[in-house]
This record gives sequence, C-alpha cells and structure tokens, in this order.
Amino acid sequence: VNDRRESLYIVSGWAAKFFHQQMMETDEGKSIGLSYFKERGFRDDIIKKFELGYSPDVWDALTQQGIKEGYNIQFLEDTGLTIRKDNEKLYDRFRGRVMFPIHSFTGRVIGFGGRTLKTDKAVPKYVNSPESDIYHKSNVLYGLFFAKKSMRDEDNCYLVEGYADVLSVHQAGVENVVASSGTSLTIEQIRMIGRFTKNITILYDGDEAGIKASLRGLDMILEEGLNVKVVNFPDSHDPDSYVQKFGSAAFKTHIDQNKKDFILYKTGILLKDAGNDPIKRAGIIREVVESIAKIPDGIKASVFVRECSSLLQIEERVLISELNKIRLGKI
Ligand code: GTP
Ligand code: MN
Ligand code: MN
Ligand code: MN
Ligand code: MN
Repeated sequence: VNDRRESLYIVSGWAAKFFHQQMMETDEGKSIGLSYFKERGFRDDIIKKFELGYSPDVWDALTQQGIKEGYNIQFLEDTGLTIRKDNEKLYDRFRGRVMFPIHSFTGRVIGFGGRTLKTDKAVPKYVNSPESDIYHKSNVLYGLFFAKKSMRDEDNCYLVEGYADVLSVHQAGVENVVASSGTSLTIEQIRMIGRFTKNITILYDGDEAGIKASLRGLDMILEEGLNVKVVNFPDSHDPDSYVQKFGSAAFKTHIDQNKKDFILYKTGILLKDAGNDPIKRAGIIREVVESIAKIPDGIKASVFVRECSSLLQIEERVLISELNKIRLGKI
C-alpha cells in the first residue's frame, strides 16, 4: 500500500473520531450538534454507526488538536481538513457544522460532508471535502459500506439524494440505501452499484430539481443493463422528511404503491408536459424510444415497446421502426 495514501486514511479516520467526540462529550457539541440530530429524529445507534459528529465553531480546533497529537500538517492539508491561508495561517475547513463522515466501500473514512446549522441563505448548506488522493467524489456513494450487504440480500439498491435521506431510511430498517450526494450520478457510481445488484430504485426529492435529476442520469443506468424504478414523494418531501413524519411502515407502503418503471415514469412526465401539442408529442416518442434503445436486453426492450405504445397511444410497429432506426444509426 502507498504510504502517503495510508497516511491520509489515518488522518481522516482520526478526524471523524475527533468530530464525533466533540459532539458527544463537549458542552458545545452536545447542546448544538447532538441536539440538532436528536431533533431531526436520529437515534443513538445511527449516530454511532455512521460516526456523525460536530465541528466546533472556532477557527482551528481540529488543526490545533492534530498538531498537538503529532499529525503531519501536510496530511491535514492534503485531505482538505486544514486550509492554509496566504501561505501561512492555518484554519479548519469545517467550523460549527454537523459532520457526516464519508466512508469508502471498505469502511475507511475518506472525506466529510458538513451541514450548517444556520438558516442564513448566504451560507452554503453543505460543505464537502475537496478531491484528494483518497477521495474522488465521482467514485463514491454515501452509505455504500453500510448498505452493501443488504443490497445483495434484497437484490435492490435505493438511491437517494442526500446524507439525511440515507440515515433516516437506514434507520427505518431499509438498509440498502445510498446517496449520490448532490452530484448527478456518474458511470462509476452505477458500476459500483452493479457489483452488488442489478436493480436500482430511485427515491429523489419531490421538488422540481429532484424530478429533473431523476430524468437525467437514468439513460446511463439503462445502458449499463441495470433495471431502474422511480418513486416520487408528495409535497416536496424527500425520503428523510417523509419517513420521519409518517413512519417506517407508511414509507414502505408508499414505495410499494408508487414505484414505477423508469421508462413508463419518464413517458408519463413527458406526456403531461406536452399536453395535446402534436409536435411535442412526436418529440416524446423519439425521446422515449431513445431510452428504450439503451436497454441491451432485447426481450426487456420489447416489453417496454408494448407498454409505451399503450401509454402513448401509438402502434407498436411505429415505435419498433423508430427503435430500429436508432439502433442502425448506432452501428
Ligand atoms: P437537509 O436539508 O439536511 O435535509 O439536506 P438534504 O440532503 O435534503 O439537502 P438537499 O435536498 O437540498 O440536497 C441534497 C444533497 O445535495 C445534500 O445532501 C448534499 O449532499 C448536496 N447539497 C445540498 N446543498 C449543497 C450545497 O450547498 N453545497 C454542496 N456542495 N452540496 C450540497
Ligand atoms: Mn487519484
Ligand atoms: Mn432537494
Ligand atoms: Mn432533506
Ligand atoms: Mn433533500
């Protein structure tokens, strides 16, 4: 193993312990950080399992403690935990935030997300670790280490947007859940999921951004040969707010009753947008057929052709001929 990278893992693991201990054992941590998580409904076992923490609201608490304990400042800087200003003054990247350590799929801490407790719109809600030799955000799924066993057992992966969604859904007993953490899904993330299961169920936020995001990255999942289902949440709920408000049983029922196959979901949304405009409707047919063309399995594709033909009220052979045009164009 590369010594330098090993040092970055060690420093990151130490920092997670520092933030966790600050939250559990100091007055500031308990009254601000821990009470925040408690108010959001997170149980002690989840706080422990995911090593949640709190970064003190001072300039250099972590940096000074690291120096005191003999950690090489260079490693603190390389993980982005410490920032050097004007080639001189050192300060902490995370200050006065609740901390979500990000684990590699083998369970080592590789980075952090920190959430502000302020409601001030000028302050970014989340600050994340920068890219480093051990943290490449396009290759990481938040929660994967805690989800992978259940992903195999259940042969499904729930994909959510945020840290809090992973925690609340996991806490509700649905452990096969990971988050893309704000970035749109990458091919590396899809392939990582594919090592454990070929079935993805998207639980994105019920807001406009969430719905748009769920239509984006998805053709990519189809191309990788994975099956995609989508569940919407009402009234701008996200999975976290939904399960915390209505409870675990209602959450599971909502998923069972609302999961739609991605292509049919996409067709439905596009149809709603288009209304009766014939030109827009023709555009939809093309878009839907383009998604179907990404599915490597021909039998699966033909099932979608049948279902979409009834949704779009258009004859199957028209869709098939469009499909063939796209497929031939590819060769
Ligand atoms: P809560 O408000 O704590 O419930 O967070 P959320 O996860 O519901 O937040 P939201 O739906 O707004 O965003 C989803 C995910 O996008 C978050 O969990 C973050 O990973 C990411 N994100 C949101 N806001 C920011 C931001 O200001 N900066 C960065 N870098 N990422 C963000
Ligand atoms: Mn690298
Ligand atoms: Mn959102
Ligand atoms: Mn939320
Ligand atoms: Mn959200």
